[in-house]
Amino acid sequence: MSLLTVHDLRVSYGPTEIIHGIDLSVERGEVLTLIGLNGAGKSTLLKAIAGLLPSSGRVEFDGNDVSRWRGARINRAGLAYVPQVNGVFAGLTVADHLELARHFRADRRGLQDEILAWFPVLGERLGQDAQTLSGGQRKMLSFVMALSCEPTLVLLDEPTEGVAPVVRQQLVEALHQVTERASVLLVEQNLDTALAVGGRCLVVERGMIVESGQITELAASGVIESRLSV
Ligand SMILES: Nc1ncnc2c1ncn2[C@@H]1O[C@H](COP(=O)(O)OP(=O)(O)OP(=O)(O)O)[C@@H](O)[C@H]1O
Ligand SMILES: [Mg+2]
Repeated sequence: MSLLTVHDLRVSYGPTEIIHGIDLSVERGEVLTLIGLNGAGKSTLLKAIAGLLPSSGRVEFDGNDVSRWRGARINRAGLAYVPQVNGVFAGLTVADHLELARHFRADRRGLQDEILAWFPVLGERLGQDAQTLSGGQRKMLSFVMALSCEPTLVLLDEPTEGVAPVVRQQLVEALHQVTERASVLLVEQNLDTALAVGGRCLVVERGMIVESGQITELAASGVIESRLSV
C-alpha cells in the first residue's frame, strides 16, 4: 500500500475551484516532485493534503483515511508540512521554535540536534527573534522544525526558492538527508534542484496533473521546459 494516496482531490477558494480532481500517490521511501508555473495550484494542493484547507475527495495516509482530519492530527500521524513562506513566528526566538517543534519532548532533543547540525548558522542564532532571520535561514528553521517530529512523510513547498546559491546548495544537501529518513512530496521550481533530488515528477497545470514520469526523462525530452515556458 502507498504511504500517501490522493484521489479526486478538489479545492476551492470561495466559489472558484483551483484544484480540479487530482490523483497522486507517494510510495514509502520515495521522493515525488511537483513542478508547475506560478499559480498552478501547487501550494494549494500541499495545504489541502496537510489538512490546512477544506477539500473534497479522498486522502489516505499511512493506512488511514485522513480526508476529514485537521492538520494537527495529520501531523501527529507522521506527516510534516514545510510552508513556502512564513514558516516562523514573530516574537519567538530560534530556540523557542525548536522547543515547540519537539512538542516539549526531551527524547527528541538528540534527533533535533542532529538535524540542526546541518545548518550551523542556526545554532549560532538560538537567541535571535526568528522573524529577523534571513529568508534562507527561515527556510532552514522551518525545515528543522518539520523534521523534529520524526515524520514518515515530509511535504516541502519550494524549500530553495529565493535563496542565495550557497544556501541552495546547503538546502539541497539537507534534502538528500531528508530523503534518507522519510518519504518526500516536494514542490520545486528550480529544475537543477529537482534533478539533483531525482525520482518521479508530476507537472501541475491549472489545477490538474498534465505530465508524469521520471524527472530525468521528462527533463531530457524537453517536456518540462515546454510546460514551463509561457
Ligand atoms: N487564499 C486564497 N484565496 C483565493 N485565491 C487563492 C488563495 N491562495 C491562492 N489562491 C489562488 O489559487 C491559485 C493557485 O495558487 P497557489 O498558491 O496554490 O499556486 P502555486 O502553484 O503554489 O504558485 P507559486 O509557484 O507562485 O507558489 C492562484 O490563482 C492563486 O491566486
Ligand atoms: Mg506556491
